[in-house]
Amino acid sequence: MRESYQTLLDGNKRWALSKIQDDPEYFERTKSLQTPEYLWIGCSDSRVPETEVTGTQQGQLFVHRNIANMVVHTDLNLLSVVEYAVEILKVKHIIVCGHYGCGGVAAATRNNSVGYVDNWLRNIKEIYNRNTLELTSIVDETARVNRLVELNVIEQVRNLAKTKAVQRAWQNRALEIHGWVYGLDSGIIKDLHTLYDEPEDLEPIFRYTFEE
Ligand code: CO
Repeated sequence: MRESYQTLLDGNKRWALSKIQDDPEYFERTKSLQTPEYLWIGCSDSRVPETEVTGTQQGQLFVHRNIANMVVHTDLNLLSVVEYAVEILKVKHIIVCGHYGCGGVAAATRNNSVGYVDNWLRNIKEIYNRNTLELTSIVDETARVNRLVELNVIEQVRNLAKTKAVQRAWQNRALEIHGWVYGLDSGIIKDLHTLYDEPEDLEPIFRYTFEE
């Protein structure tokens, strides 16, 4: 009997073959192209495959995913990805893409304990707490979670702007941070128009000064 994981390896062979059938040079052309213009920070959710939903090819997106697309200032993994993307790969855009119906965001609105993820999602509770008035006025629970999904993306965009890697880049080049939300039921991404592209977008206390 074939193990279920084998279907992934079979699928991979079919995928590689179809790529070559469409474009015989595909892998030859893209294998040495690690020059992405975009850093994508998304949720670990299995329903949001970033290259597929953006119609991009290998080599175009540098990717970091975690539960609820968080930018936590003590997360060495995230900070390494951001610094490498900004300073070495010199991406021009960073995209934080959440998604409606996010289980991580929904979990943060409840009071039961799940495990380590409680700590991971603590920052979302802070966002909820700061926006209690707006959020509690939304009666429908799904709509309330979805609004919190948007507020969370906006907060994570701000958190990126607070990083040294981003602010150092802003000293001498353009770098834009965008907040998006993907719709599981439509497949469409909504731009929240929460663009950060200069230190002045942040309150003074968050701005670093750098030695020349
Ligand atoms: Co999610």
